[in-house]
Amino acid sequence: VNIAVFGTGVVGRTIAAKLVSLGHIVIIGTRDVNATLDRVTPDPQGTPPFRDWQQQHPQVQLDTFKTAAAHGAVIINATSGGSSIDALTQAGAENLNGKIVIDVANPLDFSQGMPPSLFVSNTDSLAERIQRAFPETRVVKTLNTMRANLMVDPQQLAGGDHTVFVSGNDTDAKAQVTTWLKDWFGWSDVIDLGDITTARGTEMLLPIWLRLWGALQTPQFNFKVVR
Ligand SMILES: NC(=O)c1ccc[n+]([C@@H]2O[C@H](COP(=O)([O-])OP(=O)(O)OC[C@H]3O[C@@H](n4cnc5c(N)ncnc54)[C@H](OP(=O)(O)O)[C@@H]3O)[C@@H](O)[C@H]2O)c1
Repeated sequence: VNIAVFGTGVVGRTIAAKLVSLGHIVIIGTRDVNATLDRVTPDPQGTPPFRDWQQQHPQVQLDTFKTAAAHGAVIINATSGGSSIDALTQAGAENLNGKIVIDVANPLDFSQGMPPSLFVSNTDSLAERIQRAFPETRVVKTLNTMRANLMVDPQQLAGGDHTVFVSGNDTDAKAQVTTWLKDWFGWSDVIDLGDITTARGTEMLLPIWLRLWGALQTPQFNFKVVR
Protein backbone atom coordinates (compact mmCIF):
# COMPACT_ATOMS: atom_id res chain seq x y z
CA VAL A 1 0.00 0.00 0.00
CA ASN A 2 1.20 3.56 -0.69
CA ILE A 3 1.11 5.28 2.68
CA ALA A 4 1.61 8.87 3.87
CA VAL A 5 2.78 9.27 7.44
CA PHE A 6 2.45 12.86 8.65
CA GLY A 7 4.99 13.53 11.37
CA THR A 8 8.76 13.35 11.76
CA GLY A 9 8.65 12.64 15.52
CA VAL A 10 8.97 9.34 17.33
CA VAL A 11 5.48 8.20 16.33
CA GLY A 12 5.83 8.97 12.63
CA ARG A 13 9.26 7.33 12.53
CA THR A 14 8.13 4.23 14.42
CA ILE A 15 5.07 3.68 12.23
CA ALA A 16 6.98 4.40 9.01
CA ALA A 17 9.78 1.98 9.91
CA LYS A 18 7.30 -0.78 10.66
CA LEU A 19 5.37 -0.20 7.44
CA VAL A 20 8.43 -0.24 5.16
CA SER A 21 9.59 -3.44 6.89
CA LEU A 22 6.30 -4.94 5.68
CA GLY A 23 6.98 -3.82 2.11
CA HIS A 24 4.76 -0.73 1.97
CA ILE A 25 5.91 2.42 0.20
CA VAL A 26 5.98 5.21 2.76
CA ILE A 27 6.52 8.93 2.44
CA ILE A 28 6.79 10.86 5.69
CA GLY A 29 5.30 14.35 5.47
CA THR A 30 6.95 17.41 7.00
CA ARG A 31 6.55 21.20 6.74
CA ASP A 32 9.91 21.95 5.15
CA VAL A 33 12.08 19.08 3.93
CA ASN A 34 15.34 21.02 4.05
CA ALA A 35 14.66 22.41 7.52
CA THR A 36 13.91 18.90 8.80
CA LEU A 37 17.05 17.45 7.23
CA ASP A 38 19.18 20.37 8.42
CA ARG A 39 18.47 19.67 12.11
CA VAL A 40 21.63 18.30 13.70
CA THR A 41 20.82 18.25 17.41
CA PRO A 42 18.27 16.20 19.34
CA ASP A 43 14.97 17.93 20.11
CA PRO A 44 14.17 18.96 23.73
CA GLN A 45 12.76 15.45 24.39
CA GLY A 46 16.05 13.92 23.24
CA THR A 47 14.75 12.58 19.93
CA PRO A 48 17.73 12.28 17.55
CA PRO A 49 17.82 14.41 14.39
CA PHE A 50 15.64 13.09 11.58
CA ARG A 51 18.53 12.65 9.15
CA ASP A 52 20.36 10.36 11.59
CA TRP A 53 17.24 8.22 11.83
CA GLN A 54 16.70 8.24 8.06
CA GLN A 55 20.23 6.92 7.48
CA GLN A 56 19.11 3.81 9.33
CA HIS A 57 15.84 3.68 7.34
CA PRO A 58 16.77 4.66 3.78
CA GLN A 59 13.58 3.18 2.31
CA VAL A 60 11.48 5.82 4.07
CA GLN A 61 11.12 8.91 1.92
CA LEU A 62 10.67 12.43 3.28
CA ASP A 63 8.65 15.08 1.46
CA THR A 64 6.13 17.84 2.03
CA PHE A 65 2.74 17.10 3.55
CA LYS A 66 1.26 17.78 0.10
CA THR A 67 3.47 15.35 -1.82
CA ALA A 68 3.14 12.71 0.88
CA ALA A 69 -0.66 13.01 0.83
CA ALA A 70 -0.79 12.80 -2.96
CA HIS A 71 1.23 9.57 -2.73
CA GLY A 72 -0.78 7.98 0.07
CA ALA A 73 -3.83 5.82 -0.43
CA VAL A 74 -4.11 6.28 3.32
CA ILE A 75 -2.81 9.08 5.53
CA ILE A 76 -1.62 8.50 9.08
CA ASN A 77 -1.68 11.68 11.15
CA ALA A 78 1.16 11.65 13.69
CA THR A 79 1.67 15.39 14.01
CA SER A 80 1.45 17.29 17.28
CA GLY A 81 -2.25 17.71 18.01
CA GLY A 82 -2.15 21.49 17.96
CA SER A 83 -0.73 21.45 14.44
CA SER A 84 -2.68 18.58 12.89
CA ILE A 85 -5.27 20.75 11.11
CA ASP A 86 -2.48 22.98 9.79
CA ALA A 87 -0.56 19.98 8.48
CA LEU A 88 -3.65 18.56 6.78
CA THR A 89 -4.45 22.00 5.35
CA GLN A 90 -0.94 22.16 3.89
CA ALA A 91 -1.60 18.77 2.30
CA GLY A 92 -4.63 20.14 0.50
CA ALA A 93 -8.14 18.72 0.63
CA GLU A 94 -7.78 17.58 -2.99
CA ASN A 95 -5.05 15.16 -1.87
CA LEU A 96 -7.09 13.88 1.06
CA ASN A 97 -10.64 13.58 -0.21
CA GLY A 98 -12.06 10.07 -0.20
CA LYS A 99 -9.10 8.70 1.73
CA ILE A 100 -8.88 7.14 5.17
CA VAL A 101 -7.10 9.42 7.66
CA ILE A 102 -5.85 7.39 10.62
CA ASP A 103 -5.53 9.90 13.45
CA VAL A 104 -3.14 8.92 16.23
CA ALA A 105 -2.55 12.48 17.51
CA ASN A 106 -3.53 13.77 20.94
CA PRO A 107 -4.78 17.28 21.70
CA LEU A 108 -2.08 17.98 24.27
CA ASP A 109 -1.49 21.52 25.51
CA PHE A 110 1.97 21.96 27.01
CA SER A 111 1.64 25.73 27.45
CA GLN A 112 1.14 25.47 31.23
CA GLY A 113 3.97 22.97 31.71
CA MET A 114 3.84 19.31 32.68
CA PRO A 115 1.71 17.32 32.73
CA PRO A 116 -0.03 18.72 29.66
CA SER A 117 -3.79 19.34 29.60
CA LEU A 118 -6.16 18.80 26.66
CA PHE A 119 -6.99 21.80 24.46
CA VAL A 120 -10.26 20.18 23.41
CA SER A 121 -12.31 17.65 25.39
CA ASN A 122 -15.62 16.56 26.79
CA THR A 123 -17.99 18.00 24.16
CA ASP A 124 -15.59 17.83 21.19
CA SER A 125 -12.32 16.19 20.18
CA LEU A 126 -9.37 16.63 17.87
CA ALA A 127 -10.61 13.76 15.70
CA GLU A 128 -14.00 15.48 15.29
CA ARG A 129 -12.29 18.76 14.41
CA ILE A 130 -10.30 16.98 11.71
CA GLN A 131 -13.41 15.23 10.40
CA ARG A 132 -15.32 18.55 10.29
CA ALA A 133 -12.44 20.40 8.62
CA PHE A 134 -12.08 17.67 5.96
CA PRO A 135 -15.59 16.25 5.54
CA GLU A 136 -14.66 14.26 2.43
CA THR A 137 -12.08 12.22 4.35
CA ARG A 138 -12.86 9.17 6.45
CA VAL A 139 -11.23 9.78 9.82
CA VAL A 140 -10.51 6.80 12.06
CA LYS A 141 -9.10 7.57 15.49
CA THR A 142 -6.92 4.81 16.90
CA LEU A 143 -3.57 3.97 18.54
CA ASN A 144 -3.42 7.27 20.48
CA THR A 145 -3.66 5.54 23.88
CA MET A 146 -0.29 3.83 24.06
CA ARG A 147 3.41 4.50 23.47
CA ALA A 148 4.67 4.47 19.87
CA ASN A 149 6.65 1.21 20.09
CA LEU A 150 3.56 -0.61 21.38
CA MET A 151 1.38 0.76 18.57
CA VAL A 152 3.30 -1.25 15.99
CA ASP A 153 4.31 -4.18 18.21
CA PRO A 154 1.79 -4.96 20.96
CA GLN A 155 3.54 -8.30 21.52
CA GLN A 156 6.18 -6.40 23.50
CA LEU A 157 3.72 -6.36 26.41
CA ALA A 158 1.68 -9.18 27.99
CA GLY A 159 1.92 -11.32 24.87
CA GLY A 160 -0.13 -8.69 23.02
CA ASP A 161 -3.14 -9.23 25.31
CA HIS A 162 -4.22 -5.60 25.68
CA THR A 163 -6.61 -3.21 24.00
CA VAL A 164 -6.70 -0.72 21.13
CA PHE A 165 -9.78 1.36 20.25
CA VAL A 166 -11.19 2.59 16.95
CA SER A 167 -13.62 5.49 16.45
CA GLY A 168 -15.07 6.78 13.18
CA ASN A 169 -18.19 7.56 11.21
CA ASP A 170 -17.42 5.34 8.22
CA THR A 171 -18.04 1.66 8.97
CA ASP A 172 -16.03 0.40 5.99
CA ALA A 173 -13.07 2.60 6.91
CA LYS A 174 -13.11 1.31 10.49
CA ALA A 175 -13.28 -2.29 9.27
CA GLN A 176 -10.32 -1.64 6.95
CA VAL A 177 -8.30 -0.02 9.72
CA THR A 178 -9.15 -2.89 12.09
CA THR A 179 -7.82 -5.35 9.52
CA TRP A 180 -4.63 -3.30 9.19
CA LEU A 181 -4.21 -3.12 12.98
CA LYS A 182 -4.33 -6.90 13.09
CA ASP A 183 -2.37 -7.72 9.93
CA TRP A 184 0.28 -4.99 10.03
CA PHE A 185 0.86 -4.58 13.75
CA GLY A 186 -0.46 -7.76 15.37
CA TRP A 187 -3.33 -6.38 17.45
CA SER A 188 -5.96 -8.88 18.57
CA ASP A 189 -8.18 -6.92 20.99
CA VAL A 190 -9.65 -4.10 18.87
CA ILE A 191 -12.75 -2.40 20.31
CA ASP A 192 -14.96 -0.38 17.96
CA LEU A 193 -16.32 2.38 20.17
CA GLY A 194 -18.67 3.86 17.57
CA ASP A 195 -18.77 7.12 15.63
CA ILE A 196 -16.10 9.80 15.64
CA THR A 197 -17.55 11.48 18.75
CA THR A 198 -16.32 8.45 20.71
CA ALA A 199 -12.77 9.74 20.14
CA ARG A 200 -13.55 12.11 23.05
CA GLY A 201 -13.27 9.05 25.26
CA THR A 202 -9.89 7.87 24.01
CA GLU A 203 -8.41 11.36 23.87
CA MET A 204 -9.60 11.89 27.45
CA LEU A 205 -7.69 8.75 28.48
CA LEU A 206 -4.55 10.85 28.17
CA PRO A 207 -4.82 12.51 31.59
CA ILE A 208 -4.89 9.09 33.28
CA TRP A 209 -2.28 7.71 30.86
CA LEU A 210 0.08 10.53 31.86
CA ARG A 211 -0.46 9.93 35.60
CA LEU A 212 0.13 6.21 35.14
CA TRP A 213 3.40 7.02 33.40
CA GLY A 214 4.39 9.03 36.46
CA ALA A 215 3.23 6.42 38.96
CA LEU A 216 4.72 3.43 37.13
CA GLN A 217 7.90 5.31 36.14
CA THR A 218 7.72 3.75 32.68
CA PRO A 219 5.63 4.36 29.54
CA GLN A 220 5.64 0.64 28.72
CA PHE A 221 2.08 -0.17 29.78
CA ASN A 222 -1.35 -0.18 28.18
CA PHE A 223 -5.03 -0.48 28.96
CA LYS A 224 -6.68 -3.90 28.87
CA VAL A 225 -10.47 -3.95 28.92
CA VAL A 226 -11.49 -7.12 30.75
CA ARG A 227 -15.01 -8.35 30.02
N1 LIG B 1 5.09 9.77 21.65
C1 LIG B 1 4.21 8.78 21.76
O1 LIG B 1 4.56 7.64 22.10
C2 LIG B 1 2.75 9.05 21.44
C3 LIG B 1 1.80 8.09 21.77
C4 LIG B 1 0.46 8.30 21.39
C5 LIG B 1 0.12 9.44 20.70
N2 LIG B 1 1.07 10.39 20.40
C6 LIG B 1 0.69 11.57 19.62
O2 LIG B 1 1.26 11.41 18.32
C7 LIG B 1 1.58 12.68 17.76
C8 LIG B 1 3.05 12.70 17.35
O3 LIG B 1 3.86 12.66 18.50
P1 LIG B 1 5.46 12.73 18.36
O4 LIG B 1 5.99 12.74 19.74
O5 LIG B 1 5.93 11.70 17.40
O6 LIG B 1 5.74 14.10 17.61
P2 LIG B 1 5.38 15.64 17.94
O7 LIG B 1 6.63 16.32 18.36
O8 LIG B 1 4.19 15.73 18.81
O9 LIG B 1 4.96 16.16 16.47
C9 LIG B 1 5.94 16.30 15.49
C10 LIG B 1 5.28 16.64 14.17
O10 LIG B 1 4.38 17.76 14.30
C11 LIG B 1 4.64 18.65 13.23
N3 LIG B 1 4.33 20.05 13.56
C12 LIG B 1 4.70 20.74 14.67
N4 LIG B 1 4.27 22.03 14.57
C13 LIG B 1 3.64 22.14 13.38
C14 LIG B 1 2.97 23.20 12.70
N5 LIG B 1 2.87 24.42 13.25
N6 LIG B 1 2.39 22.93 11.49
C15 LIG B 1 2.48 21.71 10.93
N7 LIG B 1 3.12 20.66 11.52
C16 LIG B 1 3.68 20.88 12.72
C17 LIG B 1 6.14 18.53 13.00
O11 LIG B 1 6.41 18.99 11.70
P3 LIG B 1 7.92 19.05 11.12
O12 LIG B 1 8.21 17.67 10.64
O13 LIG B 1 7.82 20.03 10.02
O14 LIG B 1 8.80 19.49 12.26
C18 LIG B 1 6.36 17.04 13.17
O15 LIG B 1 6.16 16.37 11.94
C19 LIG B 1 1.21 13.71 18.83
O16 LIG B 1 -0.07 14.21 18.56
C20 LIG B 1 1.22 12.89 20.12
O17 LIG B 1 0.36 13.44 21.11
C21 LIG B 1 2.36 10.22 20.77
